[in-house]
Amino acid sequence: MKASFDFKDNNVFVFGGTSGINLGIARCFAAAGASVAVASRSQEKVDAAVAELKSLGSSASGYALDVRDAEAVQAALAEHDAAAGALDILISGAAGNFPAFAKDMSPNGFKSVVDIDLLGTFHVLRSAFQYLKKPGASVINISAPQAFVPMPMQSHVCAAKAGVDMLTRTLALEWGAYGIRINSIAPGPIADTEGMRRLAPSEAIANQYKKSVPLQRFGAAEEIGQAAMFLSSDVAQYISGVVLPVDGGWSVAGA
Ligand code: NAP
Ligand code: COA
Repeated sequence: MKASFDFKDNNVFVFGGTSGINLGIARCFAAAGASVAVASRSQEKVDAAVAELKSLGSSASGYALDVRDAEAVQAALAEHDAAAGALDILISGAAGNFPAFAKDMSPNGFKSVVDIDLLGTFHVLRSAFQYLKKPGASVINISAPQAFVPMPMQSHVCAAKAGVDMLTRTLALEWGAYGIRINSIAPGPIADTEGMRRLAPSEAIANQYKKSVPLQRFGAAEEIGQAAMFLSSDVAQYISGVVLPVDGGWSVAGA
């Protein structure tokens, strides 16, 4: 059974919201009545996501940018603020991943993922602060179980997402007095996503992966959207600084 949420008149901005899990989150907020902005590198993906969100009834907007470019992030947030006003909900989910053993990874390969996931999240949070509704905004960073479960071939992601979760906890301390809540969601393996295409490239590996999840299945992007709506809703107003695994129990069982 799905929970039903109402985010009418809410302004939501999803960084990395043009595909996969983050687009699933954007869809959930749009379907619940919010006005949703998305941003990612590809103009084509931005345009397609905006068209889809508009078809759900949302007054959607989009920005083509790289979260590694702090000035571009700042400019998009300023433009959005001028057009739509303060943000009720901010999601930072842009990320990169590829499987590689640390000993075989180039310094630039490691740096690319840390720059997108961790530094990019810092750019988003730092710039968004002035545009967040105070009091009342909900901020969610999209983390991963790799932040607390070490996984071979994922040293870059493990390091970057652990950093993202510490940003969540630190900013919960710094921003609590402004009435801003900030939490992480750590999705487990989610079906039909680029992340899982990279980590489970064959049906055999995907089936093995599924058996490692206590609930014996991959999750759906919409289930992460439901968790994001819960954390941003009226019933979660005393929740800040947590890392919420939404993973069918995968992180309890371990890698
Ligand atoms: P995805 O579809 O590739 O989503 C990544 C999004 O970020 C895309 O919209 C991508 O669009 C954007 N992006 C990538 N690099 C960017 C950059 N430098 N600047 C701006 N935007 C950028 O992959 P996904 O698997 O759904 O992953 C979404 C999130 O969930 C990530 O944070 C990931 O770490 C997390 N996660 C995924 C899983 C999973 O099972 N898939 C599990 C745990 C956590 P462009 O290419 O247009 O930039
Ligand atoms: N194995 C090892 N190293 C890899 C790699 C792989 N599969 N893919 C990329 N790299 C290395 C590159 O060789 C390069 O290092 P080098 O300059 O020393 O050769 C470095 O990573 C950067 O690659 P580049 O393609 O220039 O980076 P980019 O900024 O265009 O893209 C990535 C960033 C690499 C993270 C790319 O995979 C991406 O855009 N991912 C977004 C989508 C995604 O990962 N979705 C899942 C989200 S969880």
